[in-house]
Amino acid sequence: MKVLTVFGTRPEAIKLAPVIAAMAADPAIDQRVCITGQHREMLDPVLGAFAIRPDHDLALMRPGQSLNRLASRALGALDPVLQEERPDRILVHGDTTTAMAAAVAAFHRRIPVGHVEAGLRTGDLGRPWPEEMNRRCIDAVADQLYAPTPLARANLLAENLGPREIVVTGNTVIDALRLAEARLGSGQEAARIAELAPLAAPGARLVLVTGHRRESFGQGFEDICTALADLAARQDVRIVYPVHLNPQVREPVHARLGGHPRIHLIEPLDYLPFVWLLRRAHLVLTDSGGVQEEAPSLGTPVLVMRDVTERPEAVAAGTAQLVGTDPAAIVAAAARLIEDSAEHARIARIANPYGDGAASGRILAAIKGEPVSEFAPDPAIAAQPAPVALTA
Ligand code: UD1
Ligand code: UDP
Repeated sequence: MKVLTVFGTRPEAIKLAPVIAAMAADPAIDQRVCITGQHREMLDPVLGAFAIRPDHDLALMRPGQSLNRLASRALGALDPVLQEERPDRILVHGDTTTAMAAAVAAFHRRIPVGHVEAGLRTGDLGRPWPEEMNRRCIDAVADQLYAPTPLARANLLAENLGPREIVVTGNTVIDALRLAEARLGSGQEAARIAELAPLAAPGARLVLVTGHRRESFGQGFEDICTALADLAARQDVRIVYPVHLNPQVREPVHARLGGHPRIHLIEPLDYLPFVWLLRRAHLVLTDSGGVQEEAPSLGTPVLVMRDVTERPEAVAAGTAQLVGTDPAAIVAAAARLIEDSAEHARIARIANPYGDGAASGRILAAIKGEPVSEFAPDPAIAAQPAPVALTA
């Protein structure tokens, strides 16, 4: 069976890497990899970390290009690849413009689509924008839906999509995290980690920050910057913020926070050093999807700087709290985690609701038409109501 995996951004690469590794080890699969290059600097290190050698690189990134320009160039560039490779199936991940365009391009060529991380929903097309539309569109055309959690499967079933194969796999990010953690013990990463060690030195609480959601551009990022400046007024806090390369993020963040003695604005980190820092962080302030899923495995509480989340399992389990972008709410929630060590320790011990590290094997089995033993999270966690939105 010939499988073509298509991706273009950092999180897709991280989360597809274990699936690509599983397919590479299986002689029944003839695998090809196509990257759109929607990201460049943030994608290439992930390819290196997981030793992925793409067969096709469409090199689509242009500084600050519009979503329509990116989507139309992706459709145009993917078509000849599909014609040349004639795969039996393509695999896409998540909710990016790359994933949506690849799914539509394959649909137009009547090639079956497998969707990794299917079924995530906020129910609000504007948040996250445009990702909520992208994942709905992919789920509409995919014939195999690899839902990471039972809730994601329930979301898909509620949409009455018609005959589809839906398999609960766990999230492949946990598989990726395990591969990364195994590598962190090796001497190869020691030099890069030594560079970061002073940032994680004892004496202050390390607060790690990431952020890039388009619906927060403008006032949302202004508010996030205000919150970080207010939090950094505390002498016992050190903020480390690897700033996303999107100019709509970089410009306000550097203009507002550059030069602060307790706020370290650094370049995006490669995956392994990022995992190392996330483990050492006292808490993480983020709007990232992947970070919400990884942090519970590393014992790091998450404050989600968004009003809605498609990952309510973390909120239900207690590993993440929705705080929005209001500065006072962000500072109050962070202060609580800094001052209440018993509460921090309780959260750090909660089991991860997103996976058990075996998701890629389940996806491979589904691709091959073999029976799958599905991922089942801790029943106590799965039974909790999962709120998607911030309540006043
Ligand atoms: C994209 C995805 C988002 C995902 C995020 C992960 C879409 C619409 N958005 O958002 O779902 O969560 O990636 O990070 O698909 N840039 C660089 N170098 C890079 C990457 C980006 O310079 O390696 C700059 C470029 O100016 C680029 C801009 O950032 O045009 C925006 O990149 P883009 O991929 O369009 O969107 P993201 O905001 O990264
Ligand atoms: N990440 C990274 N370096 C960084 C920040 C994040 O490698 O400087 C990783 C992080 O561990 C997670 C993924 O990138 O696996 C999340 O990507 P991002 O936040 O860009 O996208 P999202 O998950 O929100 O789609």
